[in-house]
Amino acid sequence: MENEVKLTAGAMATFAIAVSALVILPYIQVHDVKPTEGVKPYTSAELRGRASYIANGCMYCHSQQPRSESFAPADSQRGWGRASVPGDYVYDRPHLLGSMRTGPDLLNIGVRQPSKDWQLGHLYQPRAYVQESIMPSYPYLFDIKDKAEQDEEVVNLPPGVAPAGKVVVPKPETLDLVKYLQALKRNYPVLPPQPREAEGAKSSAAPAGDTAAPAV
Ligand code: HEC
Repeated sequence: MENEVKLTAGAMATFAIAVSALVILPYIQVHDVKPTEGVKPYTSAELRGRASYIANGCMYCHSQQPRSESFAPADSQRGWGRASVPGDYVYDRPHLLGSMRTGPDLLNIGVRQPSKDWQLGHLYQPRAYVQESIMPSYPYLFDIKDKAEQDEEVVNLPPGVAPAGKVVVPKPETLDLVKYLQALKRNYPVLPPQPREAEGAKSSAAPAGDTAAPAV
C-alpha cells in the first residue's frame, strides 16, 4: 500500500512539474503580448490566402521564424530578416512557425520578393525560376485556357513555360495566397527588451505613451 501511495504521489508530482513547465510558465510569459508596433492585422483576402497556405502544406517545408544572430548567424546572412519577436505573431492564429526548412524561411518573403508575377509563376512552376528547385509545382492552383476571359489575368511566365498556344490563369484562391505572401513583412524595427528592474521604475517615472527610440 505504501508503495502505491509513493507511486501515485510521484506520478502526480511529475505531471504537475510538466504542466507547469510546458503550459503554465509559457502562458504567463506570452499571454499578454502586445502587437509589435508596425504589425498589421491581415485583410480578409490575406486570411483566405493563409488558409490556402495551410491547406497546401507550405508549412511542411517553410518556417516563419528567423532566429537571432547569436543563435543562428546564417539566418540573417541569408537575408531572412531580423529575429522575430512574439509581438510579430499576435494576429497569427494558428501560428505557422514551422519546424522544417527544406525551403527558405518566409516570414519576410513580402520584402524579399514583392513581385506578384514572380510569386504566381513560381507556384505554377518553381523550376522556371530556380533550376534546381525541389519545391513541388502547384498546377491545380491555375486554369489552362485558350484565352483569358475579360476579367481574368494571365500569369506572365518565362518563355516556353506555359503549354503551347495556351494561357495560364490563376484561380481566385491563388491570387489570395500571393496576397498573403506579399503581406509577410516583419521588417519594421522592434524595441529592445526592457530590463525587468527598469520596467517597475519606468511605470512610476515615465509619462504614459513614452517610447524609447526604436532599435535599428
Ligand atoms: C517539398 C518542400 C516544399 C513545399 C511543400 C513548398 N516549398 Fe516553397 N520552396 C521550397 C524550396 C526547396 C525552395 C527554394 C527553391 C525555390 O526558390 O524554388 C522554395 C522556395 C519558395 C519561395 C521563394 C523563397 C525565396 O526566398 O526566394 C516561396 C515564396 C515559396 N517557396 C512558397 C511556397 C508556398 C506558398 C508553398 C505552398 C503552396 C510552398 N512554397 C511549398 C520547398 C517547398
